[in-house]
Amino acid sequence: MARWSAEQGPRTEGPAAVGLPAGSPLNGGREDELDQRWAKSELDRAETSAELEDIEIAALLEAIYRFYGADFRSYARGSLRRRLRRRAELEGITTISGLQERLLHDRACMERLLADLSINVTSMFRDPAFYRAFREKVLPHLATYPFIRIWNPGCSTGEETYSLAMLLSEAGLYERTRIYATDINAGVLAVASRAVFPLEKMREYTENYLAAGGDRAFSEYYVSGYDGARFDPRLARNIVFARHNLASDSSFNEFHAVVCRNVMIYFDVHLQRQVHELFYSSLPRLGVLALGGKESLAFSGREEDYETVDGAERIYRKR
Ligand SMILES: C[S@@+](CC[C@H](N)C(=O)[O-])C[C@H]1O[C@@H](n2cnc3c(N)ncnc32)[C@H](O)[C@@H]1O
Repeated sequence: MARWSAEQGPRTEGPAAVGLPAGSPLNGGREDELDQRWAKSELDRAETSAELEDIEIAALLEAIYRFYGADFRSYARGSLRRRLRRRAELEGITTISGLQERLLHDRACMERLLADLSINVTSMFRDPAFYRAFREKVLPHLATYPFIRIWNPGCSTGEETYSLAMLLSEAGLYERTRIYATDINAGVLAVASRAVFPLEKMREYTENYLAAGGDRAFSEYYVSGYDGARFDPRLARNIVFARHNLASDSSFNEFHAVVCRNVMIYFDVHLQRQVHELFYSSLPRLGVLALGGKESLAFSGREEDYETVDGAERIYRKR
């Protein structure tokens, strides 16, 4: 929402624009005062409409939570606001309240909003340095367990999960591992369990894999089909894909590692703290927590309860 200061206020429609020339003695020297008052009222108006929009957004989020059970109430407001405005615009609606009405009465519109709000961008061996660090610094620790459980929340369409499966398989650990890959969005989970990815992505993924320290031919992992690159079904054998909402669902096991990357950046600080508690209570002592490059333990309330395995790659171990 554009905010005007008294100095920058619009000068085209205020009293000065329709009134007397600047400094005219006929206005009794009150022009500046009137000008400022006008600008102030514009500022008030802008503040009021920003405040109104905040109220509308809070009401909309509460309504979709109550009606559809989708809880976006603790998502970071800035990006949420932009996405809601964009959805309203695409629907040809001018206010957030108008959007709320449409959402509650038109399920298809709600589906469109869900797609807008759940940002599913992902790729195989995204941030190769992270996978290299995981391979070198985390796998030797995981190898000490007779059976390994990994939780991969916010797995999106599964590229991250299959990348982890490849690492574990190359280290000879996959047969004794189970990866629980979860997401709030059922649509992405359906894609993930098919294990078919666009052929045109294979070049990028091969480069990522090699940069992550992979020493096989990446093409060994898939066959090219008419519908894309079909990944080896053996990679999916020990993966459980399931729906789970980090904002409202509780933990469901104890895990030797939690790999949750590029998910909490969408949450406000309050929800981040709540999710950190969830992870903390899901890890045993020495359990590993891996976050995304823009995420950290800062403000989690648990800064002192982990030691750093690799600061740059945001890998931590519970004390
Ligand atoms: C940007 S993707 C990250 C994918 C993958 N972790 C990566 O780094 O490549 C974020 C994922 O988090 C999921 N997500 C968002 N809010 C969530 C929530 N409350 N609970 C579980 N998953 C959520 C989205 O559906 C989306 O698939």
